[in-house]
Amino acid sequence: KFSIFILLIIFRFLSLTVLLTLGDDFGYDGITGPNYWGERYRECAGKHQSPININILHVKHIILPDIEFIGFDDSIDDVHVTNNGHTVLIEVKNEPHPRVRGGPLDGDYIFSQMHFHWGDNDTFGSEDTINHRSFPMELHMVFFKEEYGTPTNAVKHHDGLTVLAFFYELDRHQHPAYDDITSALANVTEPYTSVAMSHPFSFLNILPYDLKRYFTYKGSLTTPPCSEVVIWLDFEQPIRLTHDQIETFREIKSAHGKITHNFRPIQPIGDRIVFYNIDNSYFSYNTIDEDEEEHKDTHPKRKKHRNNAQNILSNYTLILCNVLLLVYGIHLSPLISEVSFTTDF
Ligand SMILES: *[C@@H]1O[C@H](CO)[C@@H](O)[C@H](O)[C@H]1NC(C)=O
Ligand SMILES: *[C@@H]1O[C@H](CO)[C@@H](O)[C@H](O)[C@H]1NC(C)=O
Ligand SMILES: [Zn+2]
Repeated sequence: KFSIFILLIIFRFLSLTVLLTLGDDFGYDGITGPNYWGERYRECAGKHQSPININILHVKHIILPDIEFIGFDDSIDDVHVTNNGHTVLIEVKNEPHPRVRGGPLDGDYIFSQMHFHWGDNDTFGSEDTINHRSFPMELHMVFFKEEYGTPTNAVKHHDGLTVLAFFYELDRHQHPAYDDITSALANVTEPYTSVAMSHPFSFLNILPYDLKRYFTYKGSLTTPPCSEVVIWLDFEQPIRLTHDQIETFREIKSAHGKITHNFRPIQPIGDRIVFYNIDNSYFSYNTIDEDEEEHKDTHPKRKKHRNNAQNILSNYTLILCNVLLLVYGIHLSPLISEVSFTTDF
């Protein structure tokens, strides 16, 4: 029995040594911490690094085409949760993988993996910050450009990866879609362990409702080798979890004990511009108007004005009706919201 124990210790020691010599040697504190990454990985000292602080006053408003989220509502049955010693990874084993296109992206990007960054307590933990506000946790969904074949090859190209980043914020109510993840976490607290998720998994279920408003900028991986190949999309609406749900992530261990934090501090923004994609439904509304005009009217301008005036009038009429009906205790608001948001969906 004793010799088996010794053998296990030797095996463990050897596997750790192998991992370390493979370059898996960065951490978040002391001499392996972010301040020293640049010594071993030159790109970590680059000028277009991530994460950054996004200053809302300095973003450039733009209207990009809608992002297409393909396969995000599929129910995926072969999903693995892995503790890689730095974070928790979620990987999809069956094909086809979900993909994204549109927005600022040129071409299709295929899902590679998703993982999380968190902090010691709920006051910080996200990597990017917004107006220097930190969030307790951040989700990174990593996609590689289909044209480049594999994630490893994609990292050699300046537009090789896109990361969809989502912030978390605290809620008093549990997010049910996260129960499967947190129960899987309990089985991978030890480093370099992995477990298959017990139920099918859908991307859309774990994301916020609003996928239209986001910031986008060009940056890097936030872990060594810090390759400057990432088109970042930071979605504005956070995902809401309870304190206890976030706390389960802090139980995850590396070879050196609990991973209490694994976020890189913000990096200089340099000469980069952060773009802010605002909701484009207002503009598609006008486009629909113009299409109709081409067929029906020889005086598009006049008709458009009349249309807008009519719309405003009918909206006011509805609001007036709603107020009146409210007085009588009848609620018409579902109708109002349906009318004003028809172009959203
Ligand atoms: C969170 O952690 C930081 C750093 O360890 C500490 O300064 C701060 O007081 C903590 N906040 C709370 C609310 O525990
Ligand atoms: C993890 O362990 C718990 C028991 O501790 C078990 O109920 C669960 O099914 C396991 N697996 C996953 C993927 O959650
Ligand atoms: Zn990350």
